[in-house]
Amino acid sequence: MKALVLAGGSGTRLRPITHTSAKQLVPVANKPVLFYGLEAIAATGIREAGIVVGDTHAEIEAAVGDGLAFGLDVTYIRQPAPLGLAHAVLVSRDYLGDDDFVMYLGDNFIVGGVNDVVERFTRDRPAAHIMLTRVTDPRRFGVAELDPAGRVVGLEEKPPVPKSDLALVGVYLFTPAVHEAVAELKPSWRGELEITDAVQWLITEGRRVESTVVTGYWKDTGDVTDMLEVNRLVLESLDRRVDGVTDPASQLIGRVVVEEGAVVERSRIVGPVIIGAGARVRDSYIGPFTSIAAGCAVTGSEIEYSIVLPRASISGVSRIEASLIGHDVEVTPAPVTPRAHRLVLGDHSKVQISS
Ligand code: G1P
Repeated sequence: MKALVLAGGSGTRLRPITHTSAKQLVPVANKPVLFYGLEAIAATGIREAGIVVGDTHAEIEAAVGDGLAFGLDVTYIRQPAPLGLAHAVLVSRDYLGDDDFVMYLGDNFIVGGVNDVVERFTRDRPAAHIMLTRVTDPRRFGVAELDPAGRVVGLEEKPPVPKSDLALVGVYLFTPAVHEAVAELKPSWRGELEITDAVQWLITEGRRVESTVVTGYWKDTGDVTDMLEVNRLVLESLDRRVDGVTDPASQLIGRVVVEEGAVVERSRIVGPVIIGAGARVRDSYIGPFTSIAAGCAVTGSEIEYSIVLPRASISGVSRIEASLIGHDVEVTPAPVTPRAHRLVLGDHSKVQISS
């Protein structure tokens, strides 16, 4: 069995954060969301993974390399234009050969991995196995309709009037039967070859399509609240580890990770918190559920329940909450004073804040 990991697409929904970086590299607890997927694939015992890349190929390749760090043998497959998930299968035809495969969307995050579903698929070998989850706004997803026995009877891509609240999670398991389906597809209203239509084709043809409903799911719907929530979820499972340097005047409470080369001085860190490699935290308070990425500088500031991307600097600001701060952002005080700040700042932005 192989894996096909989709890491193309432009990530318009997480703008401004994805203006300057691939959406699959958006960090959750300081680790690109794509890496969790690769780890989940490796955990199933799969060794060969094809990664489908588009415009952001250089960035993805720089981050993942040959895949050895994940225990995977990675092959990059170039998708000339983002023409849909089924199109990604089409361009990967030679790579996939006649193997079964798990298709994993690189911007999806599934708590608990995919071992169980891969095991079940390998045992039962239906033409396809899909994963579903209940969502509040199914119109943003592929939506499945199940019969009373739980069998999938129909699928629709982003329906204006959804037939259920069961959204297609971005992990699909296929036998080579999917190639017949993909070959029959016509572009959808959004001009893409939809994998949802390919699975629907299999259902219409009377092929067996199974499903599993999962909880603990996140994708880049562009919702910062969602992202903070998944960050919280992952931070909750942190084990305390201090590889960086902390001075005696600092207090580290609970599950705090201080990565190699990070420096914490005269500060109070209340976990779960992760402080990335080479970050500097001085005279500050970092509260629960905060990820401070590598190379950041936090000085004389208070921040909690937030995500700060690499190399951002926050100086003399209190207090930041529920915020997502992009790469290389500078946050500094301005003369007038509101009491709390809620920010969504794009990469490289420079903002002055009253403090
Ligand atoms: C794609 C699929 C959709 C699925 C979603 C999960 O949507 O078309 O059916 O629910 O992935 O991430 P897209 O990201 O292309 O909008």
